[in-house]
Amino acid sequence: MTTVAQISLRNGVKMPQEGLGVFQINDPKLCEETVLHALHSGYRLFDTASSYQNEQAVGQALKKSQIPRSNVFLTTKAYIQEMGYQPTLNAFDKSCRRLGTDYLDLYLIHMPLNDYFGSWRALEKLYKDGRVRAIGVCNFTSTELLDLIFNVQIPPMINQIENHPLYQRTQELDFMRQQKVQPEAWAPFAEGRRGIFQNELLQKIAMHHGKTVAQLILRWNIQRGMVVIPKSTHQQRIQENLDIWYFSLSPAEMNSIGSLDENKPQMLDLNRLSEVRRVYNYLTNPVVTSL
Ligand SMILES: NC(=O)c1ccc[n+]([C@@H]2O[C@H](COP(=O)([O-])OP(=O)(O)OC[C@H]3O[C@@H](n4cnc5c(N)ncnc54)[C@H](OP(=O)(O)O)[C@@H]3O)[C@@H](O)[C@H]2O)c1
Repeated sequence: MTTVAQISLRNGVKMPQEGLGVFQINDPKLCEETVLHALHSGYRLFDTASSYQNEQAVGQALKKSQIPRSNVFLTTKAYIQEMGYQPTLNAFDKSCRRLGTDYLDLYLIHMPLNDYFGSWRALEKLYKDGRVRAIGVCNFTSTELLDLIFNVQIPPMINQIENHPLYQRTQELDFMRQQKVQPEAWAPFAEGRRGIFQNELLQKIAMHHGKTVAQLILRWNIQRGMVVIPKSTHQQRIQENLDIWYFSLSPAEMNSIGSLDENKPQMLDLNRLSEVRRVYNYLTNPVVTSL
């Protein structure tokens, strides 16, 4: 079975450098089957969120697999409507219940919106109480990250951000490294947008290594020190995406992929008011409050 590298977070907790993301796997049966297949293929890191409304299916798959809980690294996130000290404590309990676990490996603030400082104090309490092994944020700019670090007792261990060849964020990654905040790449394939799988440069380098463009993109991000969480519901792709550990890209290849950077988000741009409205309205029927 493939051996995924482990990286150490600033508190010494070890985390697999690759896992499965389950955003937009809305059908519970499909989600459960997908996670179960990934577990059997060797994935040990799973990334969900209360807003994905599939925590229960992820929990069911873990239970069915009979793999010990301590062998799996489980991440979920508190959404915008769950911000604030007490709401985040409540949200954590609900997420754990849906996932069928009494602790989390990583709990993240989903977006830098609403009362996330209140939420951070809740995360600090959960961490000190031993209910979560690591805490972090998503989608924080360097300014937001530094502001948080200046004002909290326990700095974030992770910042999960959009990151792929079209939006590489090299300076932000340098800043995170200086601050010992581990970067984690969401949408490593830009969800397949902009013809990324058909990009000629990526195809040429991938072919040179006898790999697919998906494998090349993941390997490129692994070599930049990122954690990657590609999503797929197709069994063959789930396996393909894990087969990235036994080849490496040369410095020249890494540099040439650097030329694809367009330096702007393709998926989520919180500088746009329409995006802020969209993410606030994302949960039109918030199942997250139902358990
Ligand atoms: N914190 C945040 O704000 C945030 C935001 C977005 C996402 N995330 C996390 O990041 C994870 C990954 O991001 P994402 O799901 O948005 O997008 P992604 O992983 O960049 O792309 C997923 C898309 O690529 C396709 N795909 C996967 N493997 C492939 C392969 N080997 N060849 C061809 N196509 C392939 C999938 O199709 P099939 O499924 O049909 O195979 C799906 O359409 C999410 O699932 C979620 O856990 C976090």
